[in-house]
Amino acid sequence: MSNEALENLLHEDRAFPPSVEFAAQANATAALYDEAKDDRLAFWDKQAGNLTWDTPWTTTLDWSNAPFARWFDGGKLNVSVNCVDRHVSAGHGDQIAYYFEGEPGDTQTITYSDLLAQVSQAANALESLGVKEGDRVAIYLPMIPEAAVAMLACARIGAVHSVVFGGFSAEALRSRIEDAEAKLVITADGGNRKGKPMALKPAVDEAVAASPSVENVLVVRRTGQDVEWTTKDVWWHELVGSQPTTHEPKAFDAEHPLFILYTSGTTGKPKGILHTTGGYLTQAAYTHRNVFDLKPDTDVYWCTADIGWVTGHSYVVYGPLANRATSLMYEGTPDSPHNGRWWELVQKYGVTILYTAPTAIRTFMKWGDDIPNSYDLTSLRLLGSVGEPINPEAWMWYRSVIGGDRCPIVDTWWQTETGAIMISPLPGVTATKPGSAMIPIPGISMAVLDDEEREVGNGGGGYLVLTEPWPSMLRGIWGDNDRYVETYWSRFAGKYFAGDGSKLDEDGAIWLLGRVDDVMNVSGHRISTTEVESALVSHPAVAEAAVVGANDEMTGQGIVAFVILRSDAEVGDDIVMVLRNHVAQEIGPIAKPRQILVVPELPKTRSGKIMRRLLRDVAENRVMGDVTTLADPTVMNLIGQGLSSANANED
Ligand code: PRX
Repeated sequence: MSNEALENLLHEDRAFPPSVEFAAQANATAALYDEAKDDRLAFWDKQAGNLTWDTPWTTTLDWSNAPFARWFDGGKLNVSVNCVDRHVSAGHGDQIAYYFEGEPGDTQTITYSDLLAQVSQAANALESLGVKEGDRVAIYLPMIPEAAVAMLACARIGAVHSVVFGGFSAEALRSRIEDAEAKLVITADGGNRKGKPMALKPAVDEAVAASPSVENVLVVRRTGQDVEWTTKDVWWHELVGSQPTTHEPKAFDAEHPLFILYTSGTTGKPKGILHTTGGYLTQAAYTHRNVFDLKPDTDVYWCTADIGWVTGHSYVVYGPLANRATSLMYEGTPDSPHNGRWWELVQKYGVTILYTAPTAIRTFMKWGDDIPNSYDLTSLRLLGSVGEPINPEAWMWYRSVIGGDRCPIVDTWWQTETGAIMISPLPGVTATKPGSAMIPIPGISMAVLDDEEREVGNGGGGYLVLTEPWPSMLRGIWGDNDRYVETYWSRFAGKYFAGDGSKLDEDGAIWLLGRVDDVMNVSGHRISTTEVESALVSHPAVAEAAVVGANDEMTGQGIVAFVILRSDAEVGDDIVMVLRNHVAQEIGPIAKPRQILVVPELPKTRSGKIMRRLLRDVAENRVMGDVTTLADPTVMNLIGQGLSSANANED
């Protein structure tokens, strides 16, 4: 973000308090802040008490082995019972848990009783395949109800799921299976995307062929497309469909692992973020109830995230189900079969709460007001945003065109590592400023620090840190405790370093400014520059590569790569296209560089470090910064010449 833009933000004086009517009916009132401040741990005890425990906990927080936290120690519970069984037992079996809408327009309505039967069948099926407590299960599925069922079935039997986004490549899937030593993979023949079946099974076949830990592959039939069949493969409908619809659940320790979710860090190797049971579910449910103001009897809630991301875990599956929400789940993209698809769905299902990403909002803005204006969106009463900073223009558009100037907007800051929302307005309390995530939610403590670990105070900028442990915090990086301590807890002793830059305005509201490390944020998805660089240099024609995230009006950041080709490489005119496809092959289409510049040299310091700052200047068409520390200051001229002949090669 430019300084000028930042200055504008910090002088944002528009503020939107909740309406009197909204405030009067809100789940969360200002008292929640006081309650949490008076006694933070008692506050979290109370939140945990909203779950159903088989054995109550004895210690709220054990931080004696920091930064390895234990929350609600001694307690035992079953996550799937909390998300499903208890609502059925309480007489809500006929309430709809999910309305499902496939991209081609096929629909399902799944009640809590249906969900219980399906999760029980799936749990029985997993057990029949020898999956036991603590085993890892990789899930590689489209957005279909089986994805939630598979996650809950793992939770029910104490298996640890590792969901891998369906847009990731075979290689990305393989490396995640290998790191977690997954015993089972749950996938589908394919999913529907932009009017066509998109195959998933071939990527699984490729990954599994190179993964000795995998004993079976459970395959959902979604598209009906032809699939190759191996001796490890089992059809979901045959195995799961033939199981008993009841399953006796067992209670697990509050600190029993629930899932691993891989996310990009600053090195080429994705980190397996580990979450456990009691604390995670406590905070997922608490935030979902209070930030989204969920009313289980009347709301129709729609979080548009894919289950492959943490938002899909906490706010499509665990938080909403723990709170007995009725949710909409949609398989497809916003532009298929037409650009009004989402608004058509809001109208059809009477969606009351919508939670989505700024990149989607900006896309809709570009498509024009006429599209949403031609649907009835008056059912909406609250809007949410997540994944990247939302620019004030998009915020205002979201508020007026989608929300009809009547819906509070909650801009929610959090991360895969935090497990649940950390910074957000409370919709019935906070007067929101367009573009600010405002303040930490009750129970969460943060600070903005400068390089010397001093609090910057209002009006200052620095690094966002979390100063107290929280229930849904990550418990580590799978198989790499040292990296956990090093990445998050070493920069500022005893404090969690989030990796985000932020500013406090004169009222103490927080403005998130993006990552301060080598992690890019493309359409709300985290991709590390090193990961893309490794993918590029794995191509035989590439000698060296440097990748930067450049500002992008639509996607937040766009990936721009600078590559040096091998002198002996035989390359055609289509080398840029070849390399972009190669990255898609190695990581997935989301990591395809927006632009690849073939350059003769890269700017390096005398010690050989690539000066990304200068490359970012080039990528953002800015006047170049100081080049005096370069080993060879003329390099930037050569790169500049390369730029003028480069094509933008967008697809
Ligand atoms: O940079 C922040 C940005 O997304 C990062 C976390 O990415 P991920 O783990 O993939 O989780 C995304 C969904 C929770 C953060 O370090 N980010 C997330 N939400 C916001 C945000 N940046 C600004 N405003 C937000 N509301």
